[in-house]
Amino acid sequence: YVIGVDLGTSAVKILLMNQDGEVCQEVSKSYPLIQEKSGYSEQDPEQWVEKTIDGLNELVKNFNGNVQDIEGLSFSGQMHGLVLLDQEHNVLRNAILWNDTRTTEQCRKIEDLVGKERLLAITKNPALEGFTLPKILWVKDHEAAIFEKAAVFLLPKDYLRFRLTGLLHSEYSDAAGTLLLDVAEKKWSEEICERLGINTSLCPPLVASHEQTGTIISEVAEKTGLSTNVKVFAGGADNACGAIGSGILSDGKTLCSIGTSGVVLSYEQKSDLDFGGKVHYFNHGEENAYYTMGVTLAAGYSLSWFKDVFASEVDFEELLSCIDEVPIGANGLLFTPYIAGERTPHADSVIRGSFIGMDASHERRDFVRAVLEGITFSLNESIEIFRENGKQIDTVISIGGGAKNKTWLQMQADIFNVNIMKLVSEQGPGMGAAMLAAFGCAWFSSLKECADKFVQVSESFTPKVENVEAYKKLFNLYKDVYKSTKALNE
Ligand code: XUL
Repeated sequence: YVIGVDLGTSAVKILLMNQDGEVCQEVSKSYPLIQEKSGYSEQDPEQWVEKTIDGLNELVKNFNGNVQDIEGLSFSGQMHGLVLLDQEHNVLRNAILWNDTRTTEQCRKIEDLVGKERLLAITKNPALEGFTLPKILWVKDHEAAIFEKAAVFLLPKDYLRFRLTGLLHSEYSDAAGTLLLDVAEKKWSEEICERLGINTSLCPPLVASHEQTGTIISEVAEKTGLSTNVKVFAGGADNACGAIGSGILSDGKTLCSIGTSGVVLSYEQKSDLDFGGKVHYFNHGEENAYYTMGVTLAAGYSLSWFKDVFASEVDFEELLSCIDEVPIGANGLLFTPYIAGERTPHADSVIRGSFIGMDASHERRDFVRAVLEGITFSLNESIEIFRENGKQIDTVISIGGGAKNKTWLQMQADIFNVNIMKLVSEQGPGMGAAMLAAFGCAWFSSLKECADKFVQVSESFTPKVENVEAYKKLFNLYKDVYKSTKALNE
């Protein structure tokens, strides 16, 4: 057996899988976001550790087999978050997360001191608020006493791994989202560190996602019931792991994953394609592979925000149950999901979201449908960028919250104008983490071979011509809303 631990933004999800790729146990433990000010988003790393240990303990207790047969464990993690440790490896402050947008000034500083073109040449990405480097600079600028004590930085799941093994590492897929990695060379960039006055000793040693990074320490073994022989593998960024867990392991494969954020992601064999920084370009969890990705910051988050504010008495299933009674276009209601700023294509951390076209006849279900359409339009802007750069996209695997509702899946097929595939057992990033452990344990000769066994398509949704046309008109209107609402928050 192997375990996949997915350290998400709202919860840690843990899977136990057997050699046939079946999920034998599943546990989820949630933790809160700390949002002291608008644009701030933090978490207490201790919570990640506590909840993971609780979850592993529950998983082991409910497991009927022999605990000694659990061979390996690996991770998937929310990307970009900054955990700063002192010399003794104590956490210096709350982690600043991927969806925190306080760092616009630091992004401009990076562009000035490194140069936009040089930054793009080394990291393949532009300076965006969510990435890790601007967060390091923010602490340096605003919390100098803390920064002085900082001896090393870690990404969220790398910190969790450290607490389970006692060893400090990062791996390429998550390091790529820091803006400190030379993505093609797979080395921390001394040039960027030097230009920004960051000591390279702050950057942890790098390994590949499937590499072993120790075993479980005895203190954790005691608390969880796991054996100290369990091999721990580095793991990957949640989007890389979501891709692995969905079999996005060869050229031409594309994924749409809707969690708190939403992404459209495409496998890349090469490190030298030029998207001009319009989409993210990161190292994959498969060695020497890459992926390009567009991000909608508030995808599932837009829906959970709507539910919390306007429909807290119902669950998601009930909330979505009436959307197929509402026609395409939500009876003239249009939503832009910029409630936490937007990444692709606008890279605008202060843009506000909107409902446009309200009428007294509108009911809650119209709003729900408008929210889903708005999220999907936003993701379609990423697909449009891929297509404009010569990528042919005709099939997309859909996972996450967006794959739980058939009307939403059909909506994705119609708005993206692609065949949408749904998977039999849809476990996303946690499954990718378990697959990295399975590959690390040498159950398979490659991740692809593992995916052939573990990942199967169950249903497909084909675009309907009349719907595609109707959505195209709405999508054009949707794109205009950004320009028209930009002044709202200036
Ligand atoms: C990707 C990103 C998010 C997080 C969510 O760049 O910021 O998708 O990885 O965990």
